[in-house]
Amino acid sequence: MVDVHEYLATAARAASGHLSGLSAAPVWRPTPPELRAELAGQALPEDGLDAGGLLDYAASRVLAYPMGNGHPAFFGWVNAAPHPAGIAGAVLAAAMNPSSAGGDHADVYLERAAVRWIAQLVGYPHETGAGLLTSGASMATIVAVGAARQRALDRAGWDVREHGLSGAPRLTAYASAEVHSCVGKAVELLGLGQANLRVVGDDGRGHLDPEALRALLEADRAAGAVPFLAVGSAGTVTTGAVDPLAAIAAVCAEEGLWFHVDGAYGAFGVLDPRIAARYAGMDLADSVALDPHKWLQVPAGVGCLLVRDRAQLRETFSLVPPYLRDDSGDPLGWYSEYGIEQTRPFRALPVWAAIAARGRRGVAADIAACTAAARLLAEFVEKDPDFELAAETEVSIVAFRYAPDGLDEAESDRITHALATAIQAGGKAFITDSRYRGRPVLRACIINPATGEDDLRLLLEEARDAAGALLAQR
Ligand SMILES: Cc1ncc(COP(=O)(O)O)c(C=O)c1O
Repeated sequence: MVDVHEYLATAARAASGHLSGLSAAPVWRPTPPELRAELAGQALPEDGLDAGGLLDYAASRVLAYPMGNGHPAFFGWVNAAPHPAGIAGAVLAAAMNPSSAGGDHADVYLERAAVRWIAQLVGYPHETGAGLLTSGASMATIVAVGAARQRALDRAGWDVREHGLSGAPRLTAYASAEVHSCVGKAVELLGLGQANLRVVGDDGRGHLDPEALRALLEADRAAGAVPFLAVGSAGTVTTGAVDPLAAIAAVCAEEGLWFHVDGAYGAFGVLDPRIAARYAGMDLADSVALDPHKWLQVPAGVGCLLVRDRAQLRETFSLVPPYLRDDSGDPLGWYSEYGIEQTRPFRALPVWAAIAARGRRGVAADIAACTAAARLLAEFVEKDPDFELAAETEVSIVAFRYAPDGLDEAESDRITHALATAIQAGGKAFITDSRYRGRPVLRACIINPATGEDDLRLLLEEARDAAGALLAQR
């Protein structure tokens, strides 16, 4: 007989031990080669392990080698420290283990609230059913681009669901060079082709230029294409730049394009009154992709798509075979008619918990703590003779490079490029890099409200020491 209590009590002890020990441990350390081989190569056990043995193994071999994103000195990519309420919510969701595809069970109703709360947090208009939780923003983007493609081809008199794309009008989409790769992936996957994701010029500071958008789409239209979609970023992944959303929305409205906002990293920044004005126009989008598993600190695996018109999703994705018929009379139907997944995990509970534990005010305070920390780091960088900012800090990403006086640009690029790996190896802080306007940059992303001034100073000290060692290797 499996002892549920033993499993869960032991797992809870291991999880809380892991979390409480995080800040004293290295942010990250490489997995020893023998453990890599052991983890990946272990044999399928013929007989089962008991709960204690199994969880001991997980605690000693797995929890001991984390990615690092629970630690306050983790500045890499866009990966959150999970909120304790979100962790608890994830456990309860797994215990229930429904399929949130649809039907009459609590998870389905809770998702209505979770999606509406997300819309309310970012100030996006919401009617019930106009959105759903997804596996992440990449999936939310595929759903949004799919709906945009459906609407455009429908308007062009082409039934893409029946006939596919062969012989269809050539659709073109628009975004800046800074847009996240998930948009390109969606465009590829939906059969539109990267060549039809047109790169719109920017204002020199990484913001899409609405006039360049208008000029490019008019030229494409004159060449026989059907412009159908423009994507604005509410926080780009390299520098956190927020595109001029209202101006892009105006072009889209005049030109009949679907306006999608990628708010995966930055949309929740709108909760900080100091930067809220940057997001003007986000509420005008046809769709917004967000990521509760980033700045809302929900355990990984939860994105969200909000749409203006829920019918667009259902028209694109509803495909109900006889074995999934629903006679409940719910006019909204099932979530599985609004996206790609059929069996859907219970994502709403960790989202609901991570928001409910703090309320709007608490979530906003956490967001503001991160943007304040980012401004402080930007200030440290600006004042530091060894570093320079690569872009303005608009939300909570600080992009910078190593550039002491007297170091030429090529050498500054070489060191900056090598720095992220060197800092990571030190185990005290973790940062990742990118390229911006053709040059390497370190980018510190702050989405953990526990990140404090000491962590910021530590990051720069680690960067300085690692740069010194790299210079010495010349
Ligand atoms: C701006 C932006 N858009 C989209 C994504 C993709 O989101 P996900 O990893 O949840 O699929 C990310 C991920 O970091 C991102 O930063």
